[in-house]
Amino acid sequence: MINLNIELNSKDRINYPIIIGSSILAEISEFFLKFSSKKVVIVTNETIFELYEEKFPEMFAKTNLHIEYCVIPDGEMYKNQITLDKILTCAFEAKLGRDDLFVAFGGGVIGDITGFAAAIYLRGINFIQIPTTILAQVDSSIGGKVAINTPYGKNLLGAFYQPKAVISDLDFLKTLPKREVLTGLSEVIKYSFIEKTCESNFVNFANFLLENCDLILKNNENILEKTISRCCELKASVVAKDEKENGIRAILNFGHTIGHAIEKATEYNFFTHGEAISIGMKGAFLISLKLKKISKDYFDFAQSILDRYNFVQKIPENVQAENIFQAISYDKKIKNGKLRFVLPVGYAQVKLFEDIESELIFNVIKELY
Ligand code: NAD
Ligand code: GLY
Repeated sequence: MINLNIELNSKDRINYPIIIGSSILAEISEFFLKFSSKKVVIVTNETIFELYEEKFPEMFAKTNLHIEYCVIPDGEMYKNQITLDKILTCAFEAKLGRDDLFVAFGGGVIGDITGFAAAIYLRGINFIQIPTTILAQVDSSIGGKVAINTPYGKNLLGAFYQPKAVISDLDFLKTLPKREVLTGLSEVIKYSFIEKTCESNFVNFANFLLENCDLILKNNENILEKTISRCCELKASVVAKDEKENGIRAILNFGHTIGHAIEKATEYNFFTHGEAISIGMKGAFLISLKLKKISKDYFDFAQSILDRYNFVQKIPENVQAENIFQAISYDKKIKNGKLRFVLPVGYAQVKLFEDIESELIFNVIKELY
């Protein structure tokens, strides 16, 4: 079991544990008791509830807490105001008080929407993240970005609201469908492309991921624990320096500008988030190559990682490039009319640019078919 700590550099010096390991469910009750005196509302979705219903009593074995489940439909398209309202209704019906607790038990969708509900319910109550996908364990559960989607774009209603603990049990990953494993690994690979910019302790995570690809895909416990904890270290290091994304945190959006636009243009129901991000990362590498910010050798190396993991790298023909470009225009990463873009600038290094020409981006999108 690996126990990391994230301590934010903000004035209130928030800190919380990130616990990573196998079969750690039984130890979770300690956290429930620390953050709730009476009640817990566990938010999950129909798929996960069906898979893990029998496991829940194990988590609460050592507590006398009153547990309510709020089971929402499964899917990105439900990360919206209607579902948020349903979660808040669950909390009101359960008479959840200020000293009680929300638990997000699921992937990034559950974590984001439950965190947002926790942020606004009674002006904010405690919540714990129990992420059950790779993507959520390495990214969305850490750092306090909580949000829902709107018809105008992804994650446009939200808050920065930190959980009290993140508990990542690798056992949950055994039931993940293959497609979801790959989607999470796309965010894992993202960390290898930004590693040097995240922190000075460089372990060459990209090489580790290349060398251990087969073991990672076979769910090797030891390698997976190392992989997930390295991602958490990198994310924690960035968020600690810049909780509210006024600077360095933007690098975590590497691959996301084109990625989010692809998700929106395909109405969130064609690609998974990670698939869209893998195409977005390919796009960012292409832009950098054209602007001569990286060498052809590094471009080829990055391409070899994307190929090794067999990531999606193409946009389907029936999706209009114009629609993707238009979706970028709505993206909140625009500042003063210029497009902001996180681009690779060297081995495992990225930089945020504020003035990337829209024509170049449009041309690169057209190359991604
Ligand atoms: P998800 O939450 O939709 O989960 C993917 C699928 O896996 C779902 O069908 C879910 O029911 C299923 N699932 C989850 N756990 C399972 C398990 N253990 N066994 C079997 N099936 C399981 O998707 P995701 O990839 O986890 O998260 C994507 C979301 O995360 C997006 O909404 C994205 O915007 C958000 N996100 C947020 C942040 C952040 O910082 N807050 C960062 C990255 C992504
Ligand atoms: N996943 C982007 C962030 O947490 O900032």
